[in-house]
Formats: sequence, structure tokens, C-alpha cells
Amino acid sequence: MASETLEFPKGFYWGTATASYQIEGAWNEDGKGPSIWDTYAHTPGKIENGDTGDVANDHYHRYKDDVKLMKELGATAYRFSISWPRIFPDGTGKPNARGLDFYTRLVDELVAAGIAPFPTLYHWDLPQALQDKGGWQSRDTSQAFADYAGYVAEKLSDRVKHFFTLNELRNFTDTGYRGLEVKVGGGFVRLEAAPGLKLETAAVNQVRHHAVLANGLAVRAIRASGKPGTQCGPADVLIGAVPLIETEENIKAAQTATRERNAPFLTVMLEGTYTDAYLKEAGADAPKFTPEDLEIISTPMDFVGINVYKPGMYVLAADNAAGYREVPFNKSHPRMFSSWHSIGPESLYWGPKMVQALWNPKAIYITENGCAADDELAEDGNVYDTDRIMFLRSCLTELQRATADGVPVKGYFLWSTMDNFEWTSGYGSRFGLVYVDFDTQKRTPKQSAFWFREAAARNTVV
Ligand code: NOJ
Repeated sequence: MASETLEFPKGFYWGTATASYQIEGAWNEDGKGPSIWDTYAHTPGKIENGDTGDVANDHYHRYKDDVKLMKELGATAYRFSISWPRIFPDGTGKPNARGLDFYTRLVDELVAAGIAPFPTLYHWDLPQALQDKGGWQSRDTSQAFADYAGYVAEKLSDRVKHFFTLNELRNFTDTGYRGLEVKVGGGFVRLEAAPGLKLETAAVNQVRHHAVLANGLAVRAIRASGKPGTQCGPADVLIGAVPLIETEENIKAAQTATRERNAPFLTVMLEGTYTDAYLKEAGADAPKFTPEDLEIISTPMDFVGINVYKPGMYVLAADNAAGYREVPFNKSHPRMFSSWHSIGPESLYWGPKMVQALWNPKAIYITENGCAADDELAEDGNVYDTDRIMFLRSCLTELQRATADGVPVKGYFLWSTMDNFEWTSGYGSRFGLVYVDFDTQKRTPKQSAFWFREAAARNTVV
């Protein structure tokens, strides 16, 4: 048996995660408006294999069985996302009662199963009607998001105690409005996302600004309309620097690097100021903002959620103006199945450590961690995903080390509950604890699901 020293704190949430466009299907049912992902996936050539989220996991109709499955996995929390265009088909204006009703039923089902609901309000499926008016290039989208967030908080906060605002800001801003180059061993991988634009730096920086502004406005709206005590915060992707060699100087350098690399997102949200280096480097392309914007953006939050899959970079201390030197991933640095997924489980230790050292929030959630694998059903009907279990065990060992150091990590959400639509990679990239046959919609728990159940039940690394 694993040693008791790898236990997590009492009350630690063991969750799994999904997002609306990736699992729901029912893309045009019950009054839902189209989202930018409907438009993007319906554009030939954008998604591998021509896949779309039109049906996806058909979760919209199968949510009861899916909640049952989560219960069987021993999950105590579930992070899902609410599709904005189901609630406001045009982005603003008149809400669609049937859209809200789906999430009401889902939340009731979760609560009855003893699973704490942790909805995300924006996981990239912007109403197309708002994109037609400029999307995140328009400041009005920030206010529209806050209005929608306040409305949902008002309706659900009697049963939902935690809301995540925006998911991975860098990915719906940079990746959607310019395309993102991710450094991997031996080069770069280019990622794209809806709406699939290729804008200049000044415009992208303004889009980023509108995203953090939306976060601040939404936090205020949730506080104004939600039940007292409703907690909220972002689920951002942390670009976490990892000290290549653990020395005091290198740890300090990693903190400096983490603060700078997250300057347009977590840093400004948690400090209320864009760093000097960010503004200097942007020069004439810097975002346009007012002091009042910065006050809104830095509205205090209850927790910080971070998605952590890999080290953002390795660093060493350096005697230069930046105070750190980025060390490239070696050409042979191993990766998991996804092209961007360099392996570095220590990011689950250093990520939360950096967040604590820099911003000292009351609580931290790991809002995503997991990996894709080339999963197949074996003849005996099982899925033997040994690589995923290896990855998860290594990551959780590192996360436990952070909690043992006193970092206030309150919960962990494994991406993903089940295989689903992996954006431009379509259905070929399986991240689930549960295998999904997309022809029949049959769900089969993988070996990692049994591993997760064991870890959750014992609240320890197994
Ligand atoms: C981050 C995103 O939030 C999620 O939607 C995606 O599927 C996973 N990473 C895996 O790439």
C-alpha cells in the first residue's frame, strides 16, 4: 500500500472536468443560438477529419447516465461549462428558459449524487451573434459576459457554491485571434482556434484586455446577483516557470518569469497593474486602458484556478535585465500523445507554489490536468491506458508535495471525465477516464478510471 505520507488535506475535492461544446452536442436544440465553435467546426478544413461538436458525446440527452458514471468513479466534484448561447442565444437580451433548464436539471442531478457542481461560465463558445459585432475585440462583449454571468449566478447560486469565470484566457484570445506557437523539444507547434483570426499585436493585446476586464466585471456581477458566500475565480492556464535546478536563485528566477509570462492575464488580475516589462515590450501596441479598468480587473476573487499540463518553461537565474534565462526543451524531451504536451510532472508542484509565492490567494484549484493517449478497446473489453496512469500518478505525487508544503490547493479536476471533442484535433485525441465509442455512444471506464476511484476514495496518491 502507498505510504500515508502521500495523503491530501481533508476535504480535498476529487473532480473531473468537461466543457459544453466538447461534450453536449444538441448544437441547435431547445432555442440555443450558434456559437463561434459551431461556425468554425462547420467550416471545411478547420478540424481534423471534418469532425464537429454537433452530436459530440450527446451529453445533453445522456447527462443522467453521465452523472451516474461520475458517481461510480468516486468523483466528489464536477467542473462543466455552461454554454452562453444556450442561455442568451443572441449573446444579450432575452434569456432562453429552455437553455437554463438543462443546467438546472444537471445541477440537481449532481447535487442528488453528492457531487459538488463547479460550472465554468465561459469555455470558448462565444455566441456567434456577438462575434458578428466584433467578439472580444469589442469592449461590449466584456459587459455582455458580466450580464450573462450575473443572470446565471442569480438562477443557480442556491445550489452552486463555486463558479469559474473564464477558461484559459490565453487560448481564446491569442490562439483565437492570432494563433499560438507553443515551444516543444526541437521547435514549435502552432495551435489555432475559433474564430480563427490573424490579427496584429495591438489588436490581440486589446482582446486580452477585454478578457480580463470581462473577468472583473463578471466577479462583480456574481457578487451582486448571487447568494451571499458564492465563490468565484478564473480557470486560467498558468504559464508556470520551473526552476531547472532547485536552488534559491533559480526559484526566484522562476517566480520572476512566471509573473512576466502571465502579465496580460493572471498578473494583472491579481495585482491590478500591467507589468513595466509587458508595457515596455508592447510599446505602441500596448492595450488602451483607464485606471478604472485596472480597478475592475483586480476585483478580489475567492480563489485562483489553474490548468496545468506541463511546464510553461524551464528557467535558470541570469545576470540580465529580466533576471532569468529560459532553457529550451531538449530535442529529445519526451511528450505525451498530444504534439504540444511535453512531459514535466513537477509543474504540478511548481505551478501552485509560484501562484502562492507571487499572489498568496486564499485557495487554489487545479482546474485541469490530464493527457491524451492512443487508447483502444482490448479484446477483453478493457482499455489499458498505462501511460495515462503513469502520467497522473507522477503529477499527483508532485501536487501532494505542494499541499504538504502548505500551499492551499483545495481540489483537483482531471481532464477529462470522458473522451470528447478535442477542438481542432477532433475526436482522435482521447483525454477521458472513460472511453467513448462515438458511433454507439457506449461509455467504457478505462483502467485510469479505476485508478482515480482508488485515489479519490483514499484521498492519497496510489
Ligand atoms: C485545455 C482546455 O481547457 C480543454 O478544453 C482542452 O480539451 C484541454 N486543455 C486539453 O487540450
